[in-house]
Amino acid sequence: MSERVVVVAGALCRAGRLLAARRSAPAQLAGRWELPGGKLEPGESPEQALVRELYEELGVRAEPLRRIEGEWPLGRPGYVLQVWTARLISGEPRPLEDHDALRWLAPDEMDAVDWLDHDRPAVAEAARLLRQG
Ligand code: CDP
Repeated sequence: MSERVVVVAGALCRAGRLLAARRSAPAQLAGRWELPGGKLEPGESPEQALVRELYEELGVRAEPLRRIEGEWPLGRPGYVLQVWTARLISGEPRPLEDHDALRWLAPDEMDAVDWLDHDRPAVAEAARLLRQG
């Protein structure tokens, strides 16, 4: 059995919009859009990993709010994606690591970017939550 690896991603929301980040690597994912995040490190909770990843990748302080229900298997054996809604505490997001563009999408703009397949269910749920206000 392969080891279980949790990847956490943030549905970062501000003023009714969701942050989308365009991957710059690896080659097979470059140009696709995702919710920023990454793998848990040993001893980290998912929320701690998310706070760290959003700081490393975007240079911002953010606070996880609530888990989006569900868990999505990723391409690699044992890997699963979990997603939290989150809000900015301080800083303006910049594509510092792993990304080369950012966009704040309104709920009716979610189809404007080519999301990674595994992110789509969580993006749809985040859009639903944003519409609710
Ligand atoms: O930054 P770190 O190396 O910890 O992780 P990553 O390379 O960003 O993500 C690990 C894996 O999760 C990659 O295979 C990504 O394709 C996948 N992933 C995803 O499907 N959706 C996300 N929102 C974030 C990562």
